[in-house]
Amino acid sequence: MSAVSREQVEKFLSGIEAPYIKQDLVSAKLIKDISIDNDTVSISLQLAYPAEGLKKELTESVKAVLSEQGISEVTVDISTKIVAHSVQKGISLLSNVKNIIAVASGKGGVGKSTTSINLALALQTEGATVGILDADIYGPSQPRMLGLQGKPDSKDGKTVEPKVSYGVQSMSIGYLIDEDTPMIWRGPMVTGALEQLLTETNWKDLDYLIIDLPPGTGDIQLTLCQKIPVSGAVIVTTPQDIALLDAKKALNMFEKVQVPVLGIVENMSTHICSECGHEEHIFGSGGGEQMAKQYGVDLLGSLPLDIKIREGVDNGKPTVAMEPDSAITMNYRDIARRTAAKLALQSKDYSAKFPKIVIENN
Ligand SMILES: Nc1ncnc2c1ncn2[C@@H]1O[C@H](COP(=O)(O)OP(=O)(O)O)[C@@H](O)[C@H]1O
Ligand SMILES: [Mg+2]
Ligand SMILES: [Zn+2]
Repeated sequence: MSAVSREQVEKFLSGIEAPYIKQDLVSAKLIKDISIDNDTVSISLQLAYPAEGLKKELTESVKAVLSEQGISEVTVDISTKIVAHSVQKGISLLSNVKNIIAVASGKGGVGKSTTSINLALALQTEGATVGILDADIYGPSQPRMLGLQGKPDSKDGKTVEPKVSYGVQSMSIGYLIDEDTPMIWRGPMVTGALEQLLTETNWKDLDYLIIDLPPGTGDIQLTLCQKIPVSGAVIVTTPQDIALLDAKKALNMFEKVQVPVLGIVENMSTHICSECGHEEHIFGSGGGEQMAKQYGVDLLGSLPLDIKIREGVDNGKPTVAMEPDSAITMNYRDIARRTAAKLALQSKDYSAKFPKIVIENN
């Protein structure tokens, strides 16, 4: 075989679609390096989102395409580089968190917290460093879902250390107050307390911080979304909500504060029978897809109503951590990659590269 050229290899690779981003490997600029040494072609790809679960498949499709061209000695290296993306104008990023992803819902009880923690765990399984901030000050549920309790450590009496469970860093008002003490918060107290929780936690170099927002789209949620540097939002809805247009309100809220909506997660979309495992569309089918189309946002995925998901989070043993090979975990991992890939397409934040320039109007 006569040696191929770099250009030829690149041309062959342009026939492969980059997962989730609707572009080929070349147009998506995922090719970091191609080196040719006699008959061996070494390809190095760099993705902008964590994708441990895709490496095997992607490697195989690269090898298959080259093998069709008679190139059989191929090595493929796939790495990930996650960067910070821009946030709302006039807000600075945190130095120890690259991207904040807000998880919101039009109303409570749709599975926002369940989705948040499993999404956080799934992003981590894909290779990212992840944290979760439980911003649901009225009903913090992450301590229970993560199986954590007790006050967080403080080394200097001013800042607190995140608690770590299953490798995910977390902070929750639930660690700081008694679960049985009813909290009476006025709006400004809530946003103040949450900003403090966010900025005074010593997050350790996070690629993604998932924020489990309080349910709804009222003043508190709006203020939070104006004050916290958010790179993207995920909206959780159940199929019945679609008719109620609650999720649409959440979409409008993020539009107002100029935070890109990465997509919708449809939760409890079908029911999986725990007796025989058959799947039933108890709320009708295709609602999430219809809504995504109607509002021009992505459907990131659908989760069934499955007793295993409920038992997991209710016992501090989320499915993605406890059942790594289950279909549910694969589903959450697919949603995690799709979410991160969508975020990777948003504009990047360059503030870290430039000195800060303040222009005063007076
Ligand atoms: N896909 C699902 N399958 C089964 N139970 C679920 C699912 N998603 C959420 N749940 C359960 O529904 C209840 C409400 O979920 P939660 O995440 O606390 O909602 P929210 O944060 O929106 O109020 C919890 O008991 C949770 O275990
Ligand atoms: Mg919740
Ligand atoms: Zn059945």
